[in-house]
Amino acid sequence: MDAPDLVQRARDARANAYAPYSNYGVGAALLADDGRVFTGVNVENASYGLTVCAERNAVFTAVAAGARSFEAIAVATEDGASCCGACRQVLFEFGGDVVVHLAPADGAWTTTTVADLLPEAFGPGA
Ligand code: THU
Repeated sequence: MDAPDLVQRARDARANAYAPYSNYGVGAALLADDGRVFTGVNVENASYGLTVCAERNAVFTAVAAGARSFEAIAVATEDGASCCGACRQVLFEFGGDVVVHLAPADGAWTTTTVADLLPEAFGPGA
């Protein structure tokens, strides 16, 4: 799957975000090496600290399905914001080379990598 399609999957997923407290919906679409795509959304809670981000929900869903190797993740937000630190660390567990597309609701997205988002990371190879 190419970048435009992966971004579209993240944007589509974002419609299902459960974000009644922040009103900041996030959708993620994670492309595994075998071609499967796993989506996630942020899921908030009345006990705010229990919120789980879209990226981590996508990763955990993928891992539960047996995926361990990933090519890329697209993250869709209103403004194209980047991944939080916790999600960067969870993504790094599965490889710094994973490509990250950060997509605003409209228009062009930016592309980086997990390693660029989390320099000098502590990871499974450390
Ligand atoms: N959020 C994500 O889903 N991913 C991130 O990387 C950053 C933040 C969510 C958490 C919360 O539901 C909302 O965005 C506002 O922080």
